[in-house]
Amino acid sequence: MIVLRAEDVWKRYDDTIVLRGVSLNLKKGETKVIMGPSGAGKTTFLKCLNLLVKPDKGRIWIDGEEITSPKADITRLRQKIGFVFQELNLFHHLTAIGNVMIGLTKVKGMSKSDALKKAKETLKRVHIEEELWRKYPAQLSGGQKQRVAIARALAMDPIVMLYDEPTSALDPGLSSEVLLVIKELSERGITSLIVTHELGFAYEVADEIVVMNRGRIIGGGSPEELRNAKNDEVRNLLNKWNGLKDGVLV
Ligand SMILES: Nc1ncnc2c1ncn2[C@@H]1O[C@H](COP(=O)(O)OP(=O)(O)OP(=O)(O)O)[C@@H](O)[C@H]1O
Ligand SMILES: [Mg+2]
Repeated sequence: MIVLRAEDVWKRYDDTIVLRGVSLNLKKGETKVIMGPSGAGKTTFLKCLNLLVKPDKGRIWIDGEEITSPKADITRLRQKIGFVFQELNLFHHLTAIGNVMIGLTKVKGMSKSDALKKAKETLKRVHIEEELWRKYPAQLSGGQKQRVAIARALAMDPIVMLYDEPTSALDPGLSSEVLLVIKELSERGITSLIVTHELGFAYEVADEIVVMNRGRIIGGGSPEELRNAKNDEVRNLLNKWNGLKDGVLV
């Protein structure tokens, strides 16, 4: 079952065409990784998926409903997508648990006690232990903050999780704890679309890796297929990433 479908998505800013007909499907339980150089259009594409950025052309379906339809209930459909951004984006005036609860009470209309229970369960899923629940973002490490941000999105029971370079603002030591959580969630069946520059992680977690350049998807395949990529443009791009020599993971 396809839970997210994008068909021929185009976007331009002034004179620059940023997306040139991007299409992508995500099946329930699947994990796809988007890789590509800076400026390729990866963030713009993710933002188009829940209409944070409005595409100029193209159609997008979430869970079988078209969010790009003029009749779409965009607010309701957006709730089906969990979004974890590149930059850390917690509410500074709320504790870790408060950050996870707020969407549950304000958006989902849950009672405080139900939201508290759900927030605790979700924080445990991302390995944020009880002693951190009442801390404010300023008192947490970058990796802890990003895991709280994941919990906040996950607690809303989205149909798909989108991650936009979730570790790029973190020191290497802290990014591994975040990547581990994303991998665990993916392995437990959370449908995920992940933009990352971490090639080793992409090979570990992805069912399929999609390579984007200059607003287009220029190739893709399973990690196995990409290791042996024939397409020169894909090979050249992949060769630029660390840990790769001649398209082979070393
Ligand atoms: N709001 C905007 N107004 C004008 N141009 C924009 C805007 N947002 C993005 N762009 C341009 O669109 C292009 C694609 O940007 P985007 O952020 O999608 O790239 P990216 O692949 O996510 O790159 P990175 O790996 O650096 O995050 C860039 O050239 C960028 O300058
Ligand atoms: Mg980006």
